[in-house]
Amino acid sequence: MIILDSGRVIDPANRIDGTRTVLIDGDHVREVREQAATPAEKLVHQVIDCRNRWVLPGLVDLHVHLREPGEEGKETIATGAHAAAAGGVTTLVAMPNTRPVCDSAAVARFVAARGREAGFARVVPAGAITRGSLGEQLADMAELKEAGCVCVTDDGRPVMSAGVMRRALEYASDLGLPVMVHAEDLTLSSGGAMNEGPVATRLGLPGVPAAAEVTMVQRDLLLAEMFGARLHVAHVSAAGSVRAIREAKERGVRVTAEATPHHLVLTDDAVAGGTPGSTGQPAAEPYDTHAKMSPPLRSESDRKAVVAALADGTIDAIATDHAPHGPLDKQVEFVQAANGVIGLETALALTLGLVRAGELPLTRALERLTAGPARCFALPYGTLTAGAPADVIVVDADREWKVDPQRFHSKSRNSPFTGWTLRGKVTKTFVAGKLVHEEGK
Ligand code: DOR
Ligand code: ZN
Repeated sequence: MIILDSGRVIDPANRIDGTRTVLIDGDHVREVREQAATPAEKLVHQVIDCRNRWVLPGLVDLHVHLREPGEEGKETIATGAHAAAAGGVTTLVAMPNTRPVCDSAAVARFVAARGREAGFARVVPAGAITRGSLGEQLADMAELKEAGCVCVTDDGRPVMSAGVMRRALEYASDLGLPVMVHAEDLTLSSGGAMNEGPVATRLGLPGVPAAAEVTMVQRDLLLAEMFGARLHVAHVSAAGSVRAIREAKERGVRVTAEATPHHLVLTDDAVAGGTPGSTGQPAAEPYDTHAKMSPPLRSESDRKAVVAALADGTIDAIATDHAPHGPLDKQVEFVQAANGVIGLETALALTLGLVRAGELPLTRALERLTAGPARCFALPYGTLTAGAPADVIVVDADREWKVDPQRFHSKSRNSPFTGWTLRGKVTKTFVAGKLVHEEGK
């Protein structure tokens, strides 16, 4: 047995926040108890002193782009999973916009097998909604489910045809698969490079209006309501989307949603080189392509609405949208640059920053990183309940560290938080009772 002795255990699923000792027996949690490790236990078991540490369920990240197969120069399943372990993420859902797209059992099985081989985290594949994610013909979702996919999504692009979306929702609903949507009306967004608004005007960059997201969220909520499917809205960025999801939930529509740490912490001002006033973090360069992603960073009132939605449960999960890109895609003119930022190794510390700033209560924030996302896709992770898989992290919550992507385990360096001083570092990560990452090693 491994005994994590006398840490501050926070397990939101079981409403635990206090000094506890966690017993890991093989691949599962045996018990979380108040009594510290006994002298007898110290003789026979591996006892890890967790005083002055937090002990949490491993994080569950519903939205991660690994670039394998196809773009292994940006990330492989192994490097992405290693970055996950370093960031405390023990389960990740791998997005299907690889080359080839994960629209067949062959690719889904390959991703899952490579994940198991790497061993750093549970790598769970997401399948495509449509073949090649082209938005035209439905993928064979039954086959994808059989191969282990926990949801379907064409993430990176929307399903523009409402008719195709309707059929997709019906098909997925028969299979009990949630449909994750990248809500973006391309007729409103195309040509845009950042959020439409005063900052874009000042910088002379073409804008993507919030309406590009909100109209598609509205459409998909309506279709999900009428055709009874489970909808999951990816990377919510706009206040209007929050309002629509909140109202739909009140009506009983089966919808869940996620937000990314970058949309929780940054605004479109970051494209002009600014950071929110209170963070005290270094400013970036204007036109920094590390502030470019899809959906784009929005206004301060959008950011506040997304944070509030996370606090009140309208948004269920924090998901990174970890999107590795190399210099060829990022060290170019802003309009030409690829969308996306990496996030696995900064998500926890950025979330704790929001807690310290008084924007989110601690247990709520941790719930949205663990049990909340697990609930969205009915995954058996994100909790320390006795008998649950032993995915556990040990965190030094006070440790200050400077973000230096050169030291990341990810193959890519495209973080908008380079140079920021964050607090909170994962010191140990266990997956199925196995130590997969140790700080400084
Ligand atoms: O910023 C993004 N990057 N948004 C997406 O939807 C896709 C992702 C990617 O694959 O790079
Ligand atoms: Zn997306």
